[in-house]
Amino acid sequence: MRNRSGPPVSGDDFAFRERELRFAEQALLDGNSILLFGLRRIGKTSLLQELKRRLEADGRAWCCLVDVQDKESASEFFLELLDALPATAGQALGKWIGKARTLPNSLWSTLQKRVRKGSFGGAGIELDKDILDYWKPLADAVEKTVPGLDRPVVLLIDELPFFIENLHARGEDTALVKQVLATLRSWRHAGVPMALAGSISIDQLLEDLGVSNLVLNDVSRLELHPLPREEAREMLRRLATAKDLAGWDDTTIDAVLDRLDDWFPFFLQCAFHHLQHEEPGDGFRLEEIFARHIEPDLQRSFFAQFDDRLTRRFPEKERKAAEQVLNLMARGEPPSLAIGQIKKIASPHVVDLTGLVRRLEVQQFIRPVAGKPGHYEFPFRLVRRWRQARGGA
Ligand SMILES: Nc1ncnc2c1ncn2[C@@H]1O[C@H](COP(=O)(O)OP(=O)(O)OP(=O)(O)O)[C@@H](O)[C@H]1O
Ligand SMILES: [Mg+2]
Repeated sequence: MRNRSGPPVSGDDFAFRERELRFAEQALLDGNSILLFGLRRIGKTSLLQELKRRLEADGRAWCCLVDVQDKESASEFFLELLDALPATAGQALGKWIGKARTLPNSLWSTLQKRVRKGSFGGAGIELDKDILDYWKPLADAVEKTVPGLDRPVVLLIDELPFFIENLHARGEDTALVKQVLATLRSWRHAGVPMALAGSISIDQLLEDLGVSNLVLNDVSRLELHPLPREEAREMLRRLATAKDLAGWDDTTIDAVLDRLDDWFPFFLQCAFHHLQHEEPGDGFRLEEIFARHIEPDLQRSFFAQFDDRLTRRFPEKERKAAEQVLNLMARGEPPSLAIGQIKKIASPHVVDLTGLVRRLEVQQFIRPVAGKPGHYEFPFRLVRRWRQARGGA
């Protein structure tokens, strides 16, 4: 296993997540769909890549993995999906379109050329209009042909909420957002299972745009948590072994784990990246390297993300209340709050308590304490550290 703390990983570089992989594989092969949302850097894209690798390795499915973060229009989005389909799907689509005569042949041949060249960055005004005008017959063609192919086709769509935000930012009507999501839903029902992933909550986004989440009520949710200690240990062991670092015994590994806030693979990769040149033993400069390099690195990756979530995803009034709730929670020992305490903070701000708690939960700033109804805590230790750095000390 290589030390990779940048791009998404798969194959030999991908570790664990066996439960999540099996859950996703089973769901998709049964024709069901899943949602995978969570903070940045926790391994969503890696999981999609590994899913694709596993499902295709033994021919169980054909996976179309697309990242739609930069797609600016509904037609670019559509073309990206078409391009990711296997060649057999292209042939079946062409045949169906020829027979159904529901859209001009010239449009289909233009689409095919574009798709084959992979040159649809900026689909072009004419094509844009054509695809929107013929959206329904095009979507129908996919629905009528793709589920009947000799191998199941699975769509893995990464960063879907960003694409929806792009549409909104361009001033598109929410009707278009609904149309895109309704098409995906209709494909799912016709037998095209999919995994939809992203780093911002799609539920909140749809709610804020006034789009009913009925378009998503047929999918089950998958969450990525930090690794359990034994797996975190094993991952560091593997990284050290790959670099022939004999000095990395269990004592060293435990010392590293104890200093890390959360054990997401990315955190482990990041710590190892900075520590691999040090010689474990008496002179192991663990404290110093954590303070000088590892913590600042992780904080750079995550604190800006948390700040951004708080400023962009909360309406002004709720934001003030949210900050106070998080600050009070950060000061607590243990760092948790009862709903009554949250209510006390919320009422002077005249915000709706249920709405505030839900938004805090959806944005992954708090979660219910297991087995203690009416109590909330931070989902990750890094969130508390962030709040402390922002005045909740
Ligand atoms: N299962 C894993 N095994 C090993 N490393 C992993 C694993 N999952 C994630 N990583 C590490 O975490 C980093 C981030 O992973 P990835 O890009 O998949 O996250 P992401 O959730 O898609 O992030 P973003 O929201 O920024 O797109 C990778 O570069 C890799 O170092
Ligand atoms: Mg990603």
